[in-house]
Amino acid sequence: MSPAPSDRLRGRRILITGAASGIGRRTAELFAAEGAALTLLDCDRKRLAEVARETGGVAAEADVTQEASVARAVERGAIAMDGIDGVVNAAGIVIHGSVLDVGVADWKLVLDVNLTGTYIVVRCCLPWLAKAPFATIVNIASGQGLVPNAPNMTAYAASKGGVVNLTRALAAELAPSIRVNSVCPGMVDTPMTAGFERDVNRYAMKRVADPLEIAQAILFLTGTESSFITGAALAVDGGRTFH
Ligand SMILES: NC(=O)c1ccc[n+]([C@@H]2O[C@H](COP(=O)([O-])OP(=O)(O)OC[C@H]3O[C@@H](n4cnc5c(N)ncnc54)[C@H](O)[C@@H]3O)[C@@H](O)[C@H]2O)c1
Repeated sequence: MSPAPSDRLRGRRILITGAASGIGRRTAELFAAEGAALTLLDCDRKRLAEVARETGGVAAEADVTQEASVARAVERGAIAMDGIDGVVNAAGIVIHGSVLDVGVADWKLVLDVNLTGTYIVVRCCLPWLAKAPFATIVNIASGQGLVPNAPNMTAYAASKGGVVNLTRALAAELAPSIRVNSVCPGMVDTPMTAGFERDVNRYAMKRVADPLEIAQAILFLTGTESSFITGAALAVDGGRTFH
């Protein structure tokens, strides 16, 4: 399913959050194969070390909700790579439950990681991105950020709707030098969804996605092929959003 690597990211220096697992990890593997230098940011030290070994990336442990921790990790990566040309924000969490079951503390946690965490990472990377000749930010939102039709995911859907609109606002503010786009996946086969019910009838393609299919979309939005695309919310959801 994966086309042969073609050095599409040769010379690019990319920081990926959530790089220890799932979509972030698969993106790190694809980007390494496409010639990018990588900084891998995640709060899971053990799995981060594994991915760093596999991809040759710099392991930068940090919690995306903690600005000082992110600032240190970004600086470490930027110095090691001699700059940052691109960011992929894939760190995220989901907490299921009805509005009555999910308390305010859990609501805040989901918003903190998924939305504020994305904002913090962008803020910390901006001084480096501003010096790059062709800079990109790709935020992983969700189909739930476009059409929130799954029950018991209110906090998650709100956070991902926020990521879609944060992306648009950043695209307007940072143009023309930095392009900012979001990818909105349907259900993807990752550790996050391991225990989820998989109702594939919601998808025209009648299946969930392989993480590589999301990584390929992130590659497109990070590479030169998408040079006139900014502020987009790209649904990569096997046809869920038009159901
Ligand atoms: N899997 C899906 O079906 C799906 C669908 C739509 C969107 N997404 C989004 O894609 C992104 C990646 O999801 P995934 O399925 O690969 O999940 P995953 O659980 O496999 O990976 C998420 C990674 O984020 C890291 N992380 C979580 N909180 C963090 C924090 N505070 N600081 C730093 N790192 C943190 C975790 O350690 C983990 O390595 C998430 O934003 C998720 O919401 C996933």
